[in-house]
Amino acid sequence: MEIKQKFIQIYGREPQVFSAPGRVNLIGEHTDYNDGFVLPMAIERRTWIAAARREDRVVRCISTSFDSQIEFELSEDLKPEADWANHLRGIVACLLRDEYTLCGADILIDSDIPLGAGLSSSAALEVATGYTLLKLAGQPVDLVDLALAAQRAEQEFTGTQCGIMDQYIACLGVRGHALMIDCRTLEYRAVPIDSDSIVPGPRVVICNTMVRHDLTDGEYNRRRAECEEGVRRLSSHLPGIQALRDVEIEDFDHFAGSLPETIRRRCNHVITENARTLEAVNALSLGDMKLFGQLMYASHKSLSLDYEVSCPELDLMVGTASRIKGVYGARMTGGGFGGCTVNLVERDQVDNFVAEISKRYKAETGITPESYVTTASNGVRVEH
Ligand code: GLA
Repeated sequence: MEIKQKFIQIYGREPQVFSAPGRVNLIGEHTDYNDGFVLPMAIERRTWIAAARREDRVVRCISTSFDSQIEFELSEDLKPEADWANHLRGIVACLLRDEYTLCGADILIDSDIPLGAGLSSSAALEVATGYTLLKLAGQPVDLVDLALAAQRAEQEFTGTQCGIMDQYIACLGVRGHALMIDCRTLEYRAVPIDSDSIVPGPRVVICNTMVRHDLTDGEYNRRRAECEEGVRRLSSHLPGIQALRDVEIEDFDHFAGSLPETIRRRCNHVITENARTLEAVNALSLGDMKLFGQLMYASHKSLSLDYEVSCPELDLMVGTASRIKGVYGARMTGGGFGGCTVNLVERDQVDNFVAEISKRYKAETGITPESYVTTASNGVRVEH
């Protein structure tokens, strides 16, 4: 394994190797922080960490993606600093505060998850780092606890008040399956996605608009605050609701008129998206890819018009996909404002789809997109 050899060259000793995946969300967008439902899967692209224990409390780390080195001491009082170091400092501080024992380590990081593309490269880095340091210290790993610590690290060290989806799937992804996660109870149901029992079998193709997304500019947190405002206002009509997850579509339709326009549209997205996600899980279980695809298009429309987290390039990519042969459905995936679309494509049409979408998107925008065909992979793991 290349990372192992590189580690030996740099640090002069044998490492252990761990990895965590990026993710793509099939449906259920901006529902996680509303206690709702999501349907992500771990992708084949991963972040790998080669690491060896140190006897002091220093974490020394080199990243091939950033071509730079950082060093810090284990402490629960670590504060945010610059860029990628925050993901490591954050997970260390959060695990120590959870009273885990960690040890110092020499670390080498490598990744093939594109950065800033909405495929959760940062969650993969947080989860892989936390897992590595726990394993090196001989600690038992509770994957849900690790996901929660990584979520807090993201929130505190980058300022984005994210939900649990990305860190959860990076920890608990199941090969060949998407996970329907209940973001309130933190339970999941694994639904086969690469199964041969679905005829004709779908393939997941991710298309990168190459427009970088940045959730730290405040729009993401604003959406979250708008949803909370919606709950506050609706609770005067619907006492007892804790989150938009608790609002039925019929009740919402009844009281929506009392909400300010923007809040109403944000709530409409979340409430209908939760319903679409549950319906999509059923459709996938029954192998009804046509219905699943329709729900993907409806999700995109709602994200674009009501939630306003799309952008012209994402809209173009989805519209273009919908006119290509063999496409069941397409939508933006992840936080939005750029990044990637997820497309469900008939298996024997994948090559044609990738060629066509690249050609047409480039002709319209002048940008050469990237496409990643992927199966569903495992969550964080020890590499052998
Ligand atoms: C980002 C966040 C997730 C989730 C998605 C939108 O990826 O990290 O928690 O809210 O956006 O579904």
